[in-house]
Amino acid sequence: MTTKININGDIQDEAFVSILDHGFLFGDSVYEVICTAQGKPCFLNEHLKRLYASASGISLKIPHDQEWIKNQIQTTLNSACNPESYIRIIVTRGVGDVDIDPSSCFHPNLIILVKNIPKIPDENYEKGIPVALVSIKRNSRDALDPAVKTGNYLNNVLARVEAQKVGAADAIMVNPWGQLTEGTTSNLFFVREGRLLTPEKNCGILSGITREKIIQLAHENGMPFEEGAWPGEELLKAEEIFLSGTVKKVMPVSVLDNRPVGSGKPGPITQKMMRLYSELLESVA
Ligand code: PDD
Repeated sequence: MTTKININGDIQDEAFVSILDHGFLFGDSVYEVICTAQGKPCFLNEHLKRLYASASGISLKIPHDQEWIKNQIQTTLNSACNPESYIRIIVTRGVGDVDIDPSSCFHPNLIILVKNIPKIPDENYEKGIPVALVSIKRNSRDALDPAVKTGNYLNNVLARVEAQKVGAADAIMVNPWGQLTEGTTSNLFFVREGRLLTPEKNCGILSGITREKIIQLAHENGMPFEEGAWPGEELLKAEEIFLSGTVKKVMPVSVLDNRPVGSGKPGPITQKMMRLYSELLESVA
C-alpha cells in the first residue's frame, strides 16, 4: 500500500511544490477527489468535467487535455498498486510573485496524488455519525461560489473545527440567508414526511457527483424527492439525515446537535439509498 505523487507527469514517492506556488500562498488552485471501485476510477468523466469547470471558474487554464490526465491517472495507479485507491487531482496556479495577482504565474502545476483508500469504520455506517449545525456560514455564491471546487477550503475547515468542539464528527452549514447548504466535504439529504429532500444548487453548494447519482436513483426507484431551499431549523424536524460524497458514499447521520435524528438509527430511506448506491458502484465497476 503506497502513496505515489505525479507532478506534471513525473511520478515520485514524495513530492514538493515551491512555497511561491500561489496554490500554497493563497489557496489559488482547484481539485477533485475520485475513488476507485474494483481498481477503476469511478465516474471519472464526471469528475474531469467538474475539474475543468472549476478551473474555468477561477480563470485557470489547465495545461493538458482530459486524455492526458486519464493516462497519467492510470500510470500513477499502476505504479501505486493499491487494491483500491483515493485519487486527488490538484491544479495550482503555479509559481509567481508573492502577490495575489495571478498574472505572474505562467505554469500551473498538475498534481495527481494516489493513495490507499481511507478506511471508514463500519460502525459509522451501521450506527450513523453525529453532526452539528454550525454558526460558520457557507460562502455565498457571489463571494467564493461553492460550486467551484477550489483548494481554498478554510470556510469548511472552520466549520469542521466548530463541529468538533461540540463533539460532532462533521458540520452542516447554512448560507448567509440561513438556508441549508451542505457538509464540509459532502452534500446533505434529509427526510421529512417520507420525502427525500436536498438543498438546491441555488443555495450555494457543490454539485456533488454522488448527489447527482442519488437523485437519479431516487427517480429510478420512484422515491418521493424534492430539491429546494429550507431554513436551517427544518433539519431539526428531519426523520432521517444522510451525507453524500465520493469518499463517504452514503453516510447516515444519527445525531444532530446532540439530539437523536428520528429513531437515532439509520432510517429506512437512508438504508435503501445506501444499498442502491453500493449496487450502483458495483455495477459501474
Ligand atoms: N469532497 N460538498 C463539498 C464541499 C465537497 O467537498 C464534496 C466532496 C462534496 C461531495 O461531492 P462528490 O459527491 O462529488 O464527492 C460536496 C471531496 C470528497 C473532498 O474534498 O474530499
